Amino acid sequence: MAVKDFINTNDFKKEELMDIINLSLKLKKCIKNGYYPQLLKHKTLGMIFQQSSTRTRVSFETAMEQLGGHAQYLAPGQIQLGGHETIEDTSRVLSRLVDILMARVDRHKSVVDLAKNATVPVINGMSDYNHPTQEMGDVCTMTEHLPEGKKLEDCKVVFVGDATQVCASLMFITTKLGMHFVQYGPKGYQLKKELTKIGEENCKVSGGSLLITDTEDEALKDADFVYTDVWYGLYDAELSKEDRMAIFYPKYQVTKEMMAKASPNVKFMHCLPATRGEEVVDEVIDADYSIVFDEGENRLTAMRGLLVYFLNQNAKKEDKVAQMKSRAELEVVLNSIGSKK
Ligand code: CP
Repeated sequence: MAVKDFINTNDFKKEELMDIINLSLKLKKCIKNGYYPQLLKHKTLGMIFQQSSTRTRVSFETAMEQLGGHAQYLAPGQIQLGGHETIEDTSRVLSRLVDILMARVDRHKSVVDLAKNATVPVINGMSDYNHPTQEMGDVCTMTEHLPEGKKLEDCKVVFVGDATQVCASLMFITTKLGMHFVQYGPKGYQLKKELTKIGEENCKVSGGSLLITDTEDEALKDADFVYTDVWYGLYDAELSKEDRMAIFYPKYQVTKEMMAKASPNVKFMHCLPATRGEEVVDEVIDADYSIVFDEGENRLTAMRGLLVYFLNQNAKKEDKVAQMKSRAELEVVLNSIGSKK
């Protein structure tokens, strides 16, 4: 049976993820050519945000608009998710009001519970565990920037720095797709065993590989894509900025010198927002080999594909007879209005 929700890419087979990625890239091409297929006409997306967002919010809203639908922004604090009203009740009510939901949540359990109780599809717009829509956009970007003569499965992707949820997500999707993933990060800030176990299982099926190391030369050698994320984010309150800088700087800052250790055709990636001068320097993020703004654009690419895929696979076959009956009944009511004078 088709999976109703997009909470974790590990819930999907490689072929299913590639179907969504290919659909996303096809829709991008249509729209770049000026053709906006109205695949989501009359559909409404409810967007629940417990945190701020630029890319995720704008790309979901733009995707709905471009494909003929509509999005409602439910800002942080605007609706209750597990407060006065239970998540169960919120899910059940929203399922009656919109066709699909997305949620950016403080805790992963919230989006899981939302999906469990909603009868419409739910898309995870980032939690403290993972960021699957980012992963899908990133694979679109890597597909568009493959080194000459290479397929995704031939590529080595190196994540530099802290084991954020973006790092975990990148590991999940690259190992699922048969790519070669490395996290280059300090001990104590490397992906935890419970996560690498999932990646190792993915590799057994896909033929990909997974390495966690704090040795720069080993990590960077032949890297096709170098990726980084902030050193202190939305979820880690225990350490101050100064503490975190002391752990990661200067060894894990992505510099021109670090990039020179990778493949000559290497590309630089970042989920954004970036803290320039910390995890990456200007001369890398602004270099010709940086594809960070293509990544930003491909958040929209991925959202279109995800929305069309999840609304379609959950759509019941159109019941033409029922539709015609409804229309005939409505005609009778409309014709009767004003005729009773
Ligand atoms: N990369 C990302 O999720 O960006 P936003 O936080 O701006 O949505």
